[in-house]
Amino acid sequence: MNRGTRQVVLVTGGAGYIGAHTAKALYERGHQPVVYDNLSSGFREAVRWGPFVHGDIRDRARLTDAIDAHGVTAVIHFAGLIEVGRSVARPDLFWDVNVGGTAGVLEAMRARNVPRLVFSSSAAVYGQSGRDALAPIREADPKAPSSPYGDTKLAGERLIEAHCRAFGLSAVALRYFNAAGADPSGGIGEAHEPETHLIPLAIAAGLGAGSPLTLFGDDFDTPDGTCLRDYIHVCDLAAAHVAALEAPLPAGGFEAVNVGTGHGRSVREVIQAVDRALGRPTPHAVGPRRAGDPPSLVADPSRARSVLGWTATRPSLEEIVGDAVRWERHPAYGAGPRAFRAPRVADAAE
Ligand code: UFG
Repeated sequence: MNRGTRQVVLVTGGAGYIGAHTAKALYERGHQPVVYDNLSSGFREAVRWGPFVHGDIRDRARLTDAIDAHGVTAVIHFAGLIEVGRSVARPDLFWDVNVGGTAGVLEAMRARNVPRLVFSSSAAVYGQSGRDALAPIREADPKAPSSPYGDTKLAGERLIEAHCRAFGLSAVALRYFNAAGADPSGGIGEAHEPETHLIPLAIAAGLGAGSPLTLFGDDFDTPDGTCLRDYIHVCDLAAAHVAALEAPLPAGGFEAVNVGTGHGRSVREVIQAVDRALGRPTPHAVGPRRAGDPPSLVADPSRARSVLGWTATRPSLEEIVGDAVRWERHPAYGAGPRAFRAPRVADAAE
């Protein structure tokens, strides 16, 4: 797929956090996003860069109709369930949506000869076993997911790889590390319900719009005792999808690529960055560890550079947190009943 060839891209889950940022990046690059989403966790207000199709990824007829109606030439498949804790309680749902839904997307693509897929995978495919706990993670490291969520992402990758081999599809699975931040315009950003991620919860706590933050454990074997994560700006992540769409892969080619900065930041460093961004201390208390949290998840991002020609351009925690704060204060949050528009920020006038 050549750079410069305009693609009509079906973006499943394009009304969600990373999907909406990617739809914007596709549009700005001259491609045409067509968002396909059942709005179970995404927001209609976040669909702004092309047509919207309300549909479920398990509805194969609806998928093929959308491909036909819009002349789709490639798919970026985000739609899926993401909460690790819920996956432990409801593995049935995660296998149905994340694996069954991916099978539906692949079947629709095959029925309509759509040749290129980019898939939302996750660092959750690695788990902790079989590697040096603090070393950057490479794609060839052992895969031992520690949750049904990670199991379903790994199964999705394997299903896709098998389709590539058997049917000539070409695909890139992007293994995200910790997506964070927001578009600098402040018009789209993270709005999960319930929110479980560190940066939005710390900002809400700092602004007095949420409960004080609980820091999940400070007795890990890491430099300051708190967990290390590789926070990747959502706009960098969106750019990685565009690069994956355009990467010169042969028919039948499959690549799985880490998307991170290569820098680990501790929970305490994140809290300090939020303190600085807000100009006040973030209320927090140390609590027990959260089940399943590994001490360190940091990417070795060198394959993303060699395979996709992509590197993170906004690795600074200051920029990531600053953009997240701008989004939390944006008036888009203040106008309506659902989380995307619900007022999360008490002091928007600051
Ligand atoms: N944390 C807190 N308090 C909170 C929330 C988080 O201390 O209230 C800590 C966590 O213990 C962890 C760090 O902040 O050390 C980051 O936690 P997040 O919940 O923001 O993100 P995770 O690293 O747990 O999860 C992310 C993605 C998952 C993905 C996983 C890959 O959100 O979808 O990375 O392993 F599965």
